[in-house]
Amino acid sequence: MACPMSGGIMEDHDQESDQLTEGPGMLYGEYLQLDKILTAQRLLSAEYNREVHDEHLFIITHQAYELWFKQIIYELDSVRALFNSDSNSYESLNGTSNNHTAVQKNRVPPVLNESRTLEILKRLNRIVLILKLLVDQVSILETMTPLDFMAFRDYLCPASGFQSLQFRLLENKLGVRQEHRVKYNQNYTRVFGRDPKAIDEIKRSEEEPSLSYLVQKWLARTPGLKAHDFDFWGKYERSVEKLLSEQEQFARKQTNEQLRNYHLANVCSRKAVFETIFNESHHNALVSRGERKFAYSALQGAVMITLYRDEPRFNQPHQILNALMDIDSLITKWRYNHVLMVQRMIGSSQLGTGGSSGYQYLKSTLSDRYKVFLDLFNLSTFLIPRHMIPPLSKHMKTKLSVACNGWDPDDNQNNSE
Ligand code: HEM
Repeated sequence: MACPMSGGIMEDHDQESDQLTEGPGMLYGEYLQLDKILTAQRLLSAEYNREVHDEHLFIITHQAYELWFKQIIYELDSVRALFNSDSNSYESLNGTSNNHTAVQKNRVPPVLNESRTLEILKRLNRIVLILKLLVDQVSILETMTPLDFMAFRDYLCPASGFQSLQFRLLENKLGVRQEHRVKYNQNYTRVFGRDPKAIDEIKRSEEEPSLSYLVQKWLARTPGLKAHDFDFWGKYERSVEKLLSEQEQFARKQTNEQLRNYHLANVCSRKAVFETIFNESHHNALVSRGERKFAYSALQGAVMITLYRDEPRFNQPHQILNALMDIDSLITKWRYNHVLMVQRMIGSSQLGTGGSSGYQYLKSTLSDRYKVFLDLFNLSTFLIPRHMIPPLSKHMKTKLSVACNGWDPDDNQNNSE
């Protein structure tokens, strides 16, 4: 069908665009270097004269993943720089060790410039959206049947997603620690043994402050935590004691023995759980067992932000915490979708082309050990009813209002109530 505008304005337009394409500057294909990208699909099955139609999809899917990994890393690096830009010291958090080459400095790091939190949030949310896409993308590859995959799988060996450098960088930059990886993957650097540049990049990603480390440092500076300030932690502990004692009284009043025992057991287990956050050494023992990841002071900051998230100055921090959980949970979902696809394609007892036990290895990576922000997920355990949340002092209320510009943990030494 002819364009109704042709013969009139459009004709002039066509001439103009002809002129534009002939002018200076780059054209679409040049700018995007499509000659490189669109000629990078090399079907091994075709090279062996047994072309398998679905190998094209297999390659494109992996390439699309790698491009998105690149974008995620780009955003992640910028977010880490924003978190780190006000501070040039990597002091240890609460004395807990971190695996960065720590430059010990005693000064209190300057607070995060709040105008940056919006930018951080924007970029974290972008990462979240990309990850959502990556989770969904698995189903496109699943349109390939196991029989089709079998027809070219042998040509791939020893290539495997296990050798994806960007995936390892992504994990390390988020804060997955070597010792938390499943055993088979603790020495993953050997996979890149033939590539010294890749090894260098991996080492650097392990030594640089990870997102988790920087987030913890930021949380540890949450205003109102310090005892000489609002003393949130002291007040929160007293509220929890009151709550537990009320619950215990309620339990003891039950006339039905079965019900009484149930409620008493419940209070007892709640007490034990709270003990793990009020007793720092208890908390640290959980950290050393990998059951918690955050330093004590960071966990305190996260609890405070969660309880007072309605205060204007805590809105964005609270959204940042949610975005971090989204990232963790979407990566777990990706792992899960990938492992299901692997089982569908090669079953549960074939070795992977990368040499692992395949499905069994991948299944073991679905555990909490790979959740960098595990403690944020578990915050709900420590919530208390709204009416028991310690009321903010007038000073804290002002400090957490939009009118107050900037967090400064040290500007309020004499303002406890
Ligand atoms: C037919 C589709 C696929 C199959 C059968 C498959 C199979 C496997 C297997 C068996 C492993 C374990 C390592 C080994 O090879 O021994 C693995 C790891 C991996 N694959 Fe895939 N894969 C598929 C698609 C993908 C896609 C589309 C991506 C996207 C980039 C991907 C990324 C990865 C990554 C990053 C790992 C390492 C995971 C880790 O160590 O935690 N795979 N894959």
